[in-house]
Amino acid sequence: MNKKDLVNAAKEAMKNSYSPYSDFKVGAALLSKDGKVYKGCNIENAAYGPSNCAERTAIFKAVSEGVKDFEAIAIVGGKSGIIEDFCPPCGVCRQVMAEFCHEDFKIILGGKDDDIKEFSLGELLPESFGL
Ligand code: THU
Repeated sequence: MNKKDLVNAAKEAMKNSYSPYSDFKVGAALLSKDGKVYKGCNIENAAYGPSNCAERTAIFKAVSEGVKDFEAIAIVGGKSGIIEDFCPPCGVCRQVMAEFCHEDFKIILGGKDDDIKEFSLGELLPESFGL
């Protein structure tokens, strides 16, 4: 699967975003080493705290199905689902990625007009904490 296909899967996932409080819609598509794609969206809650980011939804879906080896994740997001800019993962999601992924795990951001930026997890979370 190429980067563009993974970003398109993230755009599909964004359609299911449940975000009545922020109206900021996020979609993620996580590619496992065995070639499967796990899609996730952000899911908000009236109590705010229990809200879940799109990236963690995708990661938790995969891990809960016994899959823990990952190659890449694509992420898109925007107000009302309109992608105006890149949507880099929040710090909590970066830490969750670090639990399962190596420093060379690819984080692919889909931006406006099919623009794509790619980082490694090591670049976005250097000197990460782990036990
Ligand atoms: N959000 C994500 O889904 N992923 C991120 O990495 C950043 C933020 C969601 C959480 C919340 O539903 C909305 O975006 C606004 O913060």
